Amino acid sequence: MKVVHLVGARPNFIKIAPIMRALGRFGVEQSLIHTGQHYDDSLSDHFFSDLEIPRPDLNLSVGSGSHAVQTGRMLIALEPVLQRSRPDWLLTVGDVNSTLAGALVASKLGLPIAHVEAGLRSGDRNMPEEINRVLTDALGEALFTTERSANENLAAEGIDADRIRFVGNVMIDTLDRFRPRAAARAVHEALGLEVGKYLLATLHRPENVDDPTRLESILEAFAETARACRLPLVLPLHPRTSMNVRGFGLDRTLRSLIVLTPLGYLDFLCLMDHAAAALTDSGGVQEETTVLGVPCVTLRDTTDRPVTLTAGTNELFHGDVSELPAVVRARVAEGRRPCRPPLWDGRAAARIAHAIAHELPERNADSPEGQLRRLAIHAV
Ligand code: UD1
Ligand code: UDP
Repeated sequence: MKVVHLVGARPNFIKIAPIMRALGRFGVEQSLIHTGQHYDDSLSDHFFSDLEIPRPDLNLSVGSGSHAVQTGRMLIALEPVLQRSRPDWLLTVGDVNSTLAGALVASKLGLPIAHVEAGLRSGDRNMPEEINRVLTDALGEALFTTERSANENLAAEGIDADRIRFVGNVMIDTLDRFRPRAAARAVHEALGLEVGKYLLATLHRPENVDDPTRLESILEAFAETARACRLPLVLPLHPRTSMNVRGFGLDRTLRSLIVLTPLGYLDFLCLMDHAAAALTDSGGVQEETTVLGVPCVTLRDTTDRPVTLTAGTNELFHGDVSELPAVVRARVAEGRRPCRPPLWDGRAAARIAHAIAHELPERNADSPEGQLRRLAIHAV
């Protein structure tokens, strides 16, 4: 059995780490392809060393570009590689452009696709990630979900139940494994911060950072929130955001914040685990704060991870940003409330590996069903 994994962006690396480890235990032959969507050390290499992920067998080095340019380069570079290696499965995680590119190429070569983190939906097709999710799930042969709402979303899109498996959340597998190592980094101390006495923020979604007026109002609200809570606010800046801050001439809005470059996984987890609250628009941070119990305020209209609202510590904030300080102050006062949604137990990757190695071989490329699929495609 041979599995090719495709990754490209920061959250992908955090998801693939436990899956490769678990499949290794089943003796599955694996190779890892990096599209090169993220290429800075701080968004890519750092995660491979922190999370002990094997070096990619191949980096397609596609780099940045418009959606069409970036995805197109991935399709062109990936096709001959998958044609040569003909894996039993192409495994793709999350919802970034690299995820969709893998699904498009594999499906047209008749290779079965396993999609990890399937079925999440915001209902907002203005998000590029929503398009990537819907299309990847339509093409996926094995759809591994993190929460029950995802199974319902897939069913509502007419996807057969036998393609869907609720396995839990591999982001939490990684968190559980690395939390003690992250704690030992004591980054907060290095920054002169006390446990539970600072706010941690991340911001990178186009709807928040690509419009100058919106970005300025959020950064000013961050500064105001720090003042109102009497807590320093730490902001590791995603490159999309730092580029826009510079481009829009907004550097002054950062003056009272502790602005850092993007952090490696262990340093960021250490800061998150000791924060009084998180302010974010990240998908992964909504999930991680739920398990850590750190109050989380998400600056978005919708979430694709509703269990973080119903069971966890997450709250959507889409009002007037002038109300952000009061909302965050109230959340800080509530304190921590750790929660584990169903199957967020550190064993999601083991379930995925077991399913691929033992339960789904009939869907492999070389199974009768797989051969028929290939013949049909070649006939077209
Ligand atoms: C991408 C994903 C998003 C995910 C995020 C994780 C898509 C459509 N978006 O958004 O879902 O939440 O990654 O962080 O796939 N840049 C660098 N260095 C890098 C990479 C990017 O400076 O290593 C800059 C470039 O100017 C680039 C911009 O960041 O144009 C955006 O990068 P891109 O990968 O297109 O999208 P993200 O905003 O990172
Ligand atoms: N993260 C990190 N360093 C940072 C900011 C975030 O390691 O400076 C981690 C965070 O813990 C989470 C993941 O990156 O696991 C989320 O990635 P991101 O927010 O880029 O993408 P999203 O989840 O929104 O797709």
